Amino acid sequence: MHTITAIAHPNIALIKYWGKRDTARNLPATHSLSITLNTLETHTSVNFSAELSVDQVYLNKALAGNTFSARVSACLNEFRKLAGIDKFASVHTNNNFPTAAGLASSASGFAALLTAANAAVESPLDLRQLAILARQASGSAGRSLFGGYVIQHCGQQNDGSDSYAEPLFPAKHWPLEVVIAITSEQEKTTGSTAGMLHTAATAPYWQAWVDRSAEDIHAATTAIQQRDFSALAEVAEASCLAMHALMQSARPGLLYWNAATVELIHKIRHLRASGLAVFFTIDAGPQVKAVCLPEAADKVEAALANVPGVLRTLRCSLGAGARVVNDAE
Ligand code: PMV
Repeated sequence: MHTITAIAHPNIALIKYWGKRDTARNLPATHSLSITLNTLETHTSVNFSAELSVDQVYLNKALAGNTFSARVSACLNEFRKLAGIDKFASVHTNNNFPTAAGLASSASGFAALLTAANAAVESPLDLRQLAILARQASGSAGRSLFGGYVIQHCGQQNDGSDSYAEPLFPAKHWPLEVVIAITSEQEKTTGSTAGMLHTAATAPYWQAWVDRSAEDIHAATTAIQQRDFSALAEVAEASCLAMHALMQSARPGLLYWNAATVELIHKIRHLRASGLAVFFTIDAGPQVKAVCLPEAADKVEAALANVPGVLRTLRCSLGAGARVVNDAE
């Protein structure tokens, strides 16, 4: 067997996933709706080899730590069961953006891993199976298999067979742009799984958060379908702030923001009030993602770059789903 390389992009949720209805199977308690980005990339090469007695995992050109390697192996174990293969793999995965800082590197990582692994076997799985495996590895990873606007269903079945991501609208339906304001290059202190379990166990507003999910998904889907920026801004900011309020209401509260994160929220709201089509979203980290109409993006980027505490900005459009690439790409 030879080496197969796949590329995947991070996605950011406009309607957020936070919390699990089943921890062992990694089933989300809420639906989520995301956009897949371009520019930011994970490249992952997979080579299944009879010579190996364990999986060998390299992250950003160095041997990966135990936690990361164990997650990759756990994902490959599930893949091997379904794909009927018993060989171990060497895996090289590289991100061109900060790992584990709230930029969804696990999502693009597992989407790229599964896409490469699937292209390396004789009987590939279908996309639904791949989306379920990706979701098992990281709740948001199934969303990075697809481009444009993507929904992750929380599903109701105990076995998770109806909890998968699927595309909603292609990127060209409404090509929004994203400016990411980086406010810290540090890895986050509380990973999303630990944070979600702690939140579900201790936050008093937990059930209200879960109950609201379907309504927010409906509002966001309608806004995207109608290309109604104000309506999307309203529901996306509400979902983001509700998720962070929920985390902060846990005991002890989880606070992923720094001072610059708060400055950026105010700045973006001020820009929108002054007529620029922009809204914010924030994940389990201090970076702020400003989603805007293409004509607003230059002004938004210039304004955010000047906010105290912003280290640098990144610019993305909507991107494609995970795919196999030639080694030259
Ligand atoms: O996929 P995970 O386990 O890294 O969780 C992602 C959680 C958020 O990024 C905060 C929200 C989301 O829906 O992407």
